[in-house]
Amino acid sequence: MVKFTSLVAIGLAFATAATADNNSSKPKYKDPHVSVDERVKDLVSRMTIEEKAAQLLQGDIGNWMDTTTGAFNQSGLADNMKTKAGSFYVGYPVPASWLAENIKKAQDYLVNETRLGIPALVQSEGIHGFLLINATIFNSPIAFASSWNPTLVQDMAKAIAREAAAIGVNQLFAPLGDLARELRYGRVEECFSEDPYLAGETAYSVVTGLQSENVSATVKHFLGFSAPEQGLNTGPVHGGERELRTTYDGVPAVANSHMLNDILRGEWDYQYYVISDAGATDRLCNTFKMCEASPIDSDAVTLAALPAGTDVEMGGGSYNYKQIPQLVKEGRLDIETVDTAVSRFLRAKFEMGLFENPYPASVADQTWSALIHTSDAVQLAYSLDRESIILLENNNNTLPLKKSGSIAVIGPMAHGFVNYGDYVVKGSMARGVTPLDGIKAAVGNSATINYAMGCERWSNDQSGFPEAIDAAKKSDVAVVVVGTWSRDQNELWQGLNATTGEHVDVNSLNLVGAQADLVRAITGTGVPTIVVFSSGKPVSESWIADSAAALIQQFYQSEQGGNALADILFGDYNPSGRLPVSFPHDVGSLPIYYDYLNSGRTSSPDAGYVNPDGSIHFGHQYVIGTPLPWYPFGYGKSYSTFSYSAVSLDKANATVSDTVTVEVQVTNTSPVDGTEVVQLYVIDNIASVDIPNRKLKGFKKVFIKSGATVRVQIQLPVQDLGLWNEKMQYTVEPGAFTIQIARSATDIAGSATLYVS
Ligand SMILES: *[C@@H]1O[C@H](CO)[C@@H](O)[C@H](O)[C@H]1NC(C)=O
Ligand SMILES: *[C@@H]1O[C@H](CO)[C@@H](O)[C@H](O)[C@H]1NC(C)=O
Ligand SMILES: *[C@@H]1O[C@H](CO)[C@@H](O)[C@H](O)[C@H]1NC(C)=O
Ligand SMILES: *[C@@H]1O[C@H](CO)[C@@H](O)[C@H](O)[C@H]1NC(C)=O
Ligand SMILES: *[C@@H]1O[C@H](CO)[C@@H](O)[C@H](O)[C@H]1NC(C)=O
Ligand SMILES: *[C@@H]1O[C@H](CO)[C@@H](O)[C@H](O)[C@H]1NC(C)=O
Ligand SMILES: *[C@@H]1O[C@H](CO)[C@@H](O)[C@H](O)[C@H]1NC(C)=O
Ligand SMILES: *[C@@H]1O[C@H](CO)[C@@H](O)[C@H](O)[C@H]1NC(C)=O
Ligand SMILES: *[C@@H]1O[C@H](CO)[C@@H](O)[C@H](O)[C@H]1NC(C)=O
Repeated sequence: MVKFTSLVAIGLAFATAATADNNSSKPKYKDPHVSVDERVKDLVSRMTIEEKAAQLLQGDIGNWMDTTTGAFNQSGLADNMKTKAGSFYVGYPVPASWLAENIKKAQDYLVNETRLGIPALVQSEGIHGFLLINATIFNSPIAFASSWNPTLVQDMAKAIAREAAAIGVNQLFAPLGDLARELRYGRVEECFSEDPYLAGETAYSVVTGLQSENVSATVKHFLGFSAPEQGLNTGPVHGGERELRTTYDGVPAVANSHMLNDILRGEWDYQYYVISDAGATDRLCNTFKMCEASPIDSDAVTLAALPAGTDVEMGGGSYNYKQIPQLVKEGRLDIETVDTAVSRFLRAKFEMGLFENPYPASVADQTWSALIHTSDAVQLAYSLDRESIILLENNNNTLPLKKSGSIAVIGPMAHGFVNYGDYVVKGSMARGVTPLDGIKAAVGNSATINYAMGCERWSNDQSGFPEAIDAAKKSDVAVVVVGTWSRDQNELWQGLNATTGEHVDVNSLNLVGAQADLVRAITGTGVPTIVVFSSGKPVSESWIADSAAALIQQFYQSEQGGNALADILFGDYNPSGRLPVSFPHDVGSLPIYYDYLNSGRTSSPDAGYVNPDGSIHFGHQYVIGTPLPWYPFGYGKSYSTFSYSAVSLDKANATVSDTVTVEVQVTNTSPVDGTEVVQLYVIDNIASVDIPNRKLKGFKKVFIKSGATVRVQIQLPVQDLGLWNEKMQYTVEPGAFTIQIARSATDIAGSATLYVS
């Protein structure tokens, strides 16, 4: 994973705000020509302990904006800012104008009417679109990571940041940096990949995209959060320092001084602040039982979390950090600890240019509404979605379909609620282009569409099957859309039958309810059936690969998802998405990630199976079943075919300081233009410790015209080929490395040997 040495933007204005201070001359911290270090020091030296504590607690716009009428409450604002002035949360499903106005009022108040005039970080959510009514909704993180297109992902992040900045938001809680290695976990859809390199590149694109628009990114759940015991949200994560360094470049833990001080600050040189998740500090008492929970022992929480490096406490809990002034007065908390936390937080604000420029121009002059949901942003959501869809099977070249004759569109995910995944604002499921909408728009009057839902998303009720079978039988081809579903923000935590999302974990990856039987009923008609998985995680129904004419994976869609899917179905776009996670045959074979340790599994296990006549062939791994994936990491088909030349290296012998150029020529040997994702894996042939059997170390997505050949070069810094040795030191061990160019983690096109001395 990339090292997040900067969580905030660097890029400042030199427009000086003429604000009041307690001295007739302009204080140092307000002078943008002074270094950030000096500004931080100067400002901290002027602050009272109450002002310091107030920086370290998150406020909430709900304290001065009535969330049902939008009415402003002046005393509510003053009251909030007395103790919680450093940042405030604004992620409410209310009209944008209410937020824009009440954010401006709060920032005005802080800048003009408080003693020191420190502007706030204004915070909301934005992992796949800004959490605002009618903002542009992009496809879910696991979906856009499937595009393997970091440039487009960065463009998306810029678009999200522009919409956030338009109303005055300057920090988003995105991206989620952890790995999707526990597929039972409900938040797989919020992760990018099982693979550290792909996740790192994608996260890097999001961070740089957001921050290029002056919106501070927050790399959340950045270490060992997404592999909880039993797949249960917020469950304990196991793994020693070796495993976590090998996989994550770090160690797990919450409010852990080793992680937050030694590693994040000491080793990674991170200079900014860490904020707890909503309610997370309370968990020290009420979940971990490290302190009294009733009433919560706020002194204990503060003394455990703040010195450990958790600088700012988010709302959603007990506001334990209110105890800071008292604890300092009693001599139980060092003022230096408080000053360090405040300095890290203020450093971020200075580096962002917030003191010079507390309002984006659009907020100051009320021009914000034209910046939200622009046609460019919507077009981008469409392009990114199209590039993210993965073609898993295309038996008999059934796809692409012709825009003629009759087409049945079936399944609970084909229409109705738009299948967005979690972290979209309440009400979103009611707007957007569904698969049925997209298919109808694509064919216009040139084909007949026969639609039937077949069954609900959550129910075992099969009473809709006859209508669906009938729709299939009177059509030339059937498209069946099934999968998982999540709910909009504020609805996820209610009993509304979601099957994925935050705190919605599963112990089976099979289709829920009547959906698998619906697919069987439609394929059973003999009408060629295209199955589309619309989901937030892998679905393990591997029998569908052979019974369906074609199989498509569309991870949770954007608001343009139906149009994107139609482009794939009718060949208006040649599929180019690749799986960012391996698909298991069954939940019982988890974990399934491709970069298992050398000792982990064999590539040709003795797998048992059931014969078509019902007799059983008994194996050992497993007795009945296989530990190998159904579809491997990096897999995805195209309507084109590509051939690869031999792999060449610009140097076969290298030292640790070298960068090797790996080159291959790729030819499109088919009659259609297409896009290939050229993947580079490295095997360290002999190592002093047990290491992953291979690791992705580079990739390039290339468009290749029919019949054309392109030269693909991937740079490989030898420094990246290291391991954590017995003494837990990162080192590149001399010897031979196999450099593979591949179509997926298991489909190797060619290789070359690199010797490192
Ligand atoms: C970011 O902020 C700087 C300084 O405040 C300003 O000059 C620049 O135009 C801003 N960039 C964007 C994209 O708004
Ligand atoms: C400014 O305010 C600080 C904090 O109250 C105080 O210590 C300092 O003396 C004031 N300076 C002036 C010049 O009034
Ligand atoms: C107040 O202004 C004087 C110069 O007039 C300066 O020497 C002093 O450092 C300032 N005090 C503070 C607290 O900034
Ligand atoms: C305004 O905020 C104050 C202070 O929090 C609170 O006491 C009062 O009830 C609020 N007024 C309204 C109308 O919400
Ligand atoms: C969202 O957009 C719809 C359709 O344009 C409009 O009817 C609705 O009023 C908008 N909602 C808000 C809160 O802006
Ligand atoms: C606060 O100060 C800024 C900059 O000096 C000014 O543009 C704005 O109008 C002021 N707001 C209020 C409410 O006084
Ligand atoms: C949830 O499922 C139950 C039946 O299992 C159904 O009655 C109810 O309508 C569903 N609710 C929602 C919101 O989907
Ligand atoms: C592929 O075509 C053959 C021959 O027409 C047919 O028997 C077979 O069922 C088809 N396979 C699928 C999955 O549709
Ligand atoms: C590269 O190193 C290998 C293994 O040490 C050696 O056999 C080979 O001769 C070297 N090749 C060159 C060109 O130096």
